Amino acid sequence: MEKSHSRATFGGRISAVLVTAGSAVGLGNIWRFPYVAGENGGGAFLLVYAGCILLLGLPLTIAEFAIGKSTRCNAVGAYRRLAPRWSIIGYTGILTSTLILGFYFVVAGWTAEYMLHSLTGEIAARGEAESHRLLFERFIADPWRPALYAVAFAVATQLVISLGVRRGIERAAKVMMPLLFLALLALAVHSILLPGGLEGLRFFLAPDFSKLTASSVLTALGQAFFSLSIGLGTMVTYASYFTPSTDIRRTAWQVTAVDTLVALLAGLVIFPAVFSAGIEPDSGPSLVFITLPTIFGTLPLGGLWSAIFFLLLVIAALTSTISLHEACTAYLHEEWRLPRRTAACCTTLVTVLLGIFASLSFGVLNGWRIGSLTLFDALDHLTADLLLPLGGLMTCLFAGWHRHPKALYETLYRDPRLGIGDRTLRFLLRYVCPAVMVLLFLDSLGIG
Ligand code: PFF
Repeated sequence: MEKSHSRATFGGRISAVLVTAGSAVGLGNIWRFPYVAGENGGGAFLLVYAGCILLLGLPLTIAEFAIGKSTRCNAVGAYRRLAPRWSIIGYTGILTSTLILGFYFVVAGWTAEYMLHSLTGEIAARGEAESHRLLFERFIADPWRPALYAVAFAVATQLVISLGVRRGIERAAKVMMPLLFLALLALAVHSILLPGGLEGLRFFLAPDFSKLTASSVLTALGQAFFSLSIGLGTMVTYASYFTPSTDIRRTAWQVTAVDTLVALLAGLVIFPAVFSAGIEPDSGPSLVFITLPTIFGTLPLGGLWSAIFFLLLVIAALTSTISLHEACTAYLHEEWRLPRRTAACCTTLVTVLLGIFASLSFGVLNGWRIGSLTLFDALDHLTADLLLPLGGLMTCLFAGWHRHPKALYETLYRDPRLGIGDRTLRFLLRYVCPAVMVLLFLDSLGIG
């Protein structure tokens, strides 16, 4: 427990499932999943996504948990202890976390603005989807407000991290998870019953493979990793706070199941409403911010429901930003030996700067392009479509092929002679995961 003084409250008190599910469930499920599913044809994408979760996401989550739990170190330190040459996985992870945090603060800020909008009656007063689209577009192009919200969100994350009010987060997560789930369930029923809702249900659930390309399979994989918070060391960091008695496989199953269910429910809310309101399902990152307010507009006391829903979303986003922030802070604190508070400030400073630029890329900095992408889109795609799958690939090569130090072997596998479940896990980590990822990379580079 030599490092536990800086982390104790996180690991000891909060159950493993709650913390990791708090990281996994977030804007990735409710904002990102529907928009990438909509851009990639709906039903077929869902099927591929489920396959990615089961065959790649789950084994990798178990591997990351084992790496963190057996070393009790931050992402870089964990690999350095196990096999110094593989520390590159940890460094890539820290870079990815920083980049994700940059654009995640922006979207999290949007949810906070929408929560306040709901309270002021702005949401309920607008009826048509078109009017919500205008409101959203005007808001994100504003030079000040969205950037200020992103900064406010970063400050809130920093406060929670540095004040150590983790019991608050634990309590919030305990109440928030079931509430978010119930709210989504109720909204899904309402949405499916809207006129035209069934068409949306068909789009989301009936697979049309003609829309599927290799690049959409890579997108599904990246989305699965983004949603499960894997491929970048966040789960390694969190698992380093697990108690010795934590069952990593059960925890991985539970987190994966909860996370996937929330994404599925989000799809059941969004797509029927999208078709009912005549919105294009491939409208990209704005999809949820136009669709959800439109549904709330059709409900009695819509403003109130909308405020509650966006509040839940703000909390879900906060538990995810905390995990991303924690991965970077733990790295700076333990590897660079910075005092924890200084480490947290450095993380906030760098990511908030990125966030401000990403936010401005919807307005005044829209002309700054990386290829054809704005900074926001570039951060989103670079991380989810390249860095996360790359981090995942390196992690399974490490977990599947590197000769394991005893502590890792004993944490990863239950049986020294490899029982049935162990053999399946090793087969997936050794062959299936790397093969799928290499093929996808080659295909998306136009090779093969
Ligand atoms: N899994 C989070 C979500 O779905 O919103 C996002 C995320 C959190 C990604 C933490 C990566 C991470 F390390």
